[in-house]
Amino acid sequence: MPPLSRRNFICGSAALAAVATVPAVAATGIKTLSNGKTEIDLVTNTSLSSVGAVVELDIKKYGKVAVVRTSKSVSGFSVFNLSCPHAGVIVKQSNGGWACPPPRGHGSEFALNGNLKVGPASSALKAIKFTATSKKLTIA
Ligand code: FES
Repeated sequence: MPPLSRRNFICGSAALAAVATVPAVAATGIKTLSNGKTEIDLVTNTSLSSVGAVVELDIKKYGKVAVVRTSKSVSGFSVFNLSCPHAGVIVKQSNGGWACPPPRGHGSEFALNGNLKVGPASSALKAIKFTATSKKLTIA
């Protein structure tokens, strides 16, 4: 093995630091089923165990999607598309909810569960059907 150069050490350390700071969320226990549905194993993926927790996914069928834990009940989730209903800009988490920021967005704001708070959008973020048990959440 060749000696480790200063440059390779610094680049390797930076890459390791980047990996270490990525939150351990979406990938664990999430799979696409053969019927096209997406399944989150709630036992393996504990990131949705707390009320207010959010997992963002990129699903082929829907694009950017958020799964939000809204209560401790078995079906206490909201699943919705992150495309703003006003003109399609992807909303971002902001102040405990979602915002559609400039320059592409026009300032609409949504509650954490996707409900509309401030326009110009005239409706909530588009809900996506799902089923949930104590062990898994399946996005239709
Ligand atoms: S696209 Fe979101 S407010 Fe216009």
